[in-house]
Amino acid sequence: MADPAPALYPGSFDPITNGHLDVIERAAKLFDHVLVAVADNNAKNALFSTEDRVSLIRQSVSSLPNVQVTSFKGLLVDFAAASGARVVVRGLRAVTDFEYEFQMALMNKTLRPDLETIFLASREVFTYVSSRVIKEVARLGGDVTRMVPAPVAAALAAKFHAP
Ligand code: PNS
Repeated sequence: MADPAPALYPGSFDPITNGHLDVIERAAKLFDHVLVAVADNNAKNALFSTEDRVSLIRQSVSSLPNVQVTSFKGLLVDFAAASGARVVVRGLRAVTDFEYEFQMALMNKTLRPDLETIFLASREVFTYVSSRVIKEVARLGGDVTRMVPAPVAAALAAKFHAP
């Protein structure tokens, strides 16, 4: 029987990169439903609005029928409970990600013991790709087209280099 509970893939996605997309595609093969959840977090100084981040992800995953995209406010564990998710998926790029990811996974486990976090190891080719670096390169006029989905490349160009 199909599992109606989605696997949750949360993040800032400011903006989504090909590294994120790779995690989504792989999660979509492992789980019946994947819910990509953009954290609507005012504390982080985002380049793109929450709506724009959701829209850019939707455009990037349009070929994946079992992937939905939404945003959430507040604690991830509360959103997970509300959406019926039992699994949180996160990508792990390198040792440098580990401490932050481990802390988050353990905090979420403490807050909600029945919620599991699983990590998908980043494909080598994406280990250096991060939203932060992409934004810096794009702002300074570098070519990021191989590192982000096409709608994101266009949105970055419009943000930084609109005539
Ligand atoms: O892409 P990011 O910035 O690494 O994603 C971090 C995110 C959004 C998953 C994390 O900050 C989060 O879950 N925020 C929601 C608020 C929350 O639950 N904070 C406690 C996490 S331990």
